[in-house]
Amino acid sequence: MGKTISGFSKLSKSKKIDWIVDTYLSNSKDAEHILKQYWNADNKLQQLHDEFIENTISNYYLPFGVAPNFLINDKMYTIPMAIEESSVVAAASKTAKFWMDRGGFKAEVISTTKIGQVHFMYHGRTDVLKAFFITIKSKLIEDCKSITKNMELRGGGIIDIELRDKTTDIKDYYQIHASFETLDAMGANFINSCLEQFAKTVKRQALIFDGFSEKEKHMDIVMSILSNYVPDCLVRAEVSCKVEDLSDNDAFSGEAFANRFLQAIKIAEVEPYRAVTHNKGIMNGIDAVVLATGNDFRAVEAGVHAYASRNGSYSSLTHAKIEDGIFTFWLEIPLALGTVGGLTGLHPLVKLALEMLGNPTAKELMEIVAVAGLAQNFAALRSLTTTGIQQGHMKMHLMNILNQFNANDAEKVILIEHFKTNTVSFSAVSETLATLRMRIDD
Ligand code: MEV
Repeated sequence: MGKTISGFSKLSKSKKIDWIVDTYLSNSKDAEHILKQYWNADNKLQQLHDEFIENTISNYYLPFGVAPNFLINDKMYTIPMAIEESSVVAAASKTAKFWMDRGGFKAEVISTTKIGQVHFMYHGRTDVLKAFFITIKSKLIEDCKSITKNMELRGGGIIDIELRDKTTDIKDYYQIHASFETLDAMGANFINSCLEQFAKTVKRQALIFDGFSEKEKHMDIVMSILSNYVPDCLVRAEVSCKVEDLSDNDAFSGEAFANRFLQAIKIAEVEPYRAVTHNKGIMNGIDAVVLATGNDFRAVEAGVHAYASRNGSYSSLTHAKIEDGIFTFWLEIPLALGTVGGLTGLHPLVKLALEMLGNPTAKELMEIVAVAGLAQNFAALRSLTTTGIQQGHMKMHLMNILNQFNANDAEKVILIEHFKTNTVSFSAVSETLATLRMRIDD
């Protein structure tokens, strides 16, 4: 069983490992070996990773893959993806090629506004609070000048601040609801710094505002924080082609494929159980690019799923239609991304990923990420509504199963060949490998 420890963060890395190994891990030699095996031989690079977070004892690798042949707004991209799930990168690559031959993806940023709020309690007259807010509004912005100066020089900054009366939800609850333009930065630090300054100004100015009674002067600031819900930081990605051009094999006509595809989308639009899985598939593509480019995938996930329920019921993020013989498939999602600040200038692989994408602006990155999500959903629905998902997925998963059985290189070659024409399953791989090994033993 575990035990408590104080001063853990002050221990050296080796001592932290000693404590973890002694306290929790049965085979101490193996455990220590595994943890240290993932250390980078380059001490400077290791130190960089150690210092990204606290109490680092090792590195946790994710595969870094690439999906080439993405034609987006008439420009070619190879998209970097960090993800552990087999078949996601293959699906992206296959879809990229499919749409490259049909005019590629079109993407467009609709808006880039981000939101932050100061939540506070005020025990007094609402009309007087409103008058107070009007009086101090310019002061609130002015007091942030040292934070906003550089952002403003580049064309961003605070867009607006408003007082919101939330007392019908919670007694005495109000907000300063602020909107920001943070350009190529994700902007979390910028927004939070502005909000904390707003809170200080409100508190200070309230104490000297003549209109308040003694009781009203004391603002109770609960918290100041950005919102990861960014419905006005929106991007749209789309593909379209003639219905008949959708077919690339004899099994399905373009029309049959398009109709089944539309049915699948309609189901995800009305059925939350399906919508969650449908959107999860979209996030396979989105998270992988968000991670590879050093962005905050938790923020993106939270915002995207909230957006998927904006009409009161959780629904599909993608939509499709057929009009005048043209099939159109699109996605609209909120994405708060940065291409400067945060990890983007620090993590060598992130820098490389961004360079591979031509050092995009945040807007371009929003477009690329949205396209990766749309492509992933296209691939999933295409398999689901035709062959079923398992055929392709298990083929890609074959290597993982072979590795679980410690197959050597020669065995892998033989089994990969065998499963080109046989259905992959865990037991089929196990049996085929056992038979092969028996034959070799004989
Ligand atoms: C698996 O990671 C994602 C899918 O389940 C998505 C979907 O069902 O649309 C294949």
